Amino acid sequence: MNRVIESLLSHRTIRAFRPARIDDAQLDAILEAGTRAATSFQPYSFLVIDDPEILEDVAMYNAPIAILVTIDVHRFGRYLELHGASKPTDSPFYLLHAHWDALIALQNVVVAAESLGLGTVFIGRVHSMDLRKPLGLPENVCPAGLVLIGHPTEPSPGRPRYRVPLEAVVHRNRYREPTDEELEAWYGRYKEMFDKHYEALSDEEKEELAAEGIENGLQRFCHLEGTFFREADEATLRNLQHGGFHVADWGTTA
Ligand SMILES: Cc1cc2nc3c(=O)[nH]c(=O)nc-3n(C[C@H](O)[C@H](O)[C@H](O)COP(=O)(O)O)c2cc1C
Repeated sequence: MNRVIESLLSHRTIRAFRPARIDDAQLDAILEAGTRAATSFQPYSFLVIDDPEILEDVAMYNAPIAILVTIDVHRFGRYLELHGASKPTDSPFYLLHAHWDALIALQNVVVAAESLGLGTVFIGRVHSMDLRKPLGLPENVCPAGLVLIGHPTEPSPGRPRYRVPLEAVVHRNRYREPTDEELEAWYGRYKEMFDKHYEALSDEEKEELAAEGIENGLQRFCHLEGTFFREADEATLRNLQHGGFHVADWGTTA
């Protein structure tokens, strides 16, 4: 093993931070590490957020800093324009391409921060946040990922959280369909957790859910996730549109 792999293997999401600010030189190194990820002309921007008012809006937890990575086809597009050039970007392929670029840069930020003993947490709600005004995002710039970074209040517990075993996610040369027994073994602990949450509900809450056909923990989990996604979809589409990706107009060609 080496220190990079050790750091990756001991990753833990951290949700409680001390108010202490992050050293400027460390932050620069973290951001520089972000930009060292592989890239196709860097179609992204980092917005470093330490304004307490904005932080309060974007952060679910108290952290001294948030780093938003956006897909940014504005900056390079402007440069191309200076030379009478432009390239099509409003396409599914380019959206995935630029999103990939932005997120590996953000993951580099996380890996660098953790290697310095800092804690991080992604904030999944970012796609539906309206950050255009607060952050002054121009057209063709939209959120791709958000991470909070800070000094953890407590030393890392050292033990990483559960992942399904490698054999569940790794396929060699050909996709292998798992058996039902394997699925039970891999996901059983999630079922237990969701069943526990479900069992803790009051009879009245259970009855309300039953009226919607929801009668166990996994069904409730899917219902909650589905509702959350559906509620976020409109704002997410708006953000993508602002980013220059008019996905609603793409239609299907397959
Ligand atoms: C796309 C994505 C979005 C996430 N969003 C949130 C979030 O909004 N709030 C949160 O507390 N954790 C969030 N997380 C962190 C996961 O909850 C965490 O990674 C997971 O529970 C596994 O724990 P670990 O990172 O400590 O191994 C997110 C992770 C990912 C990859």
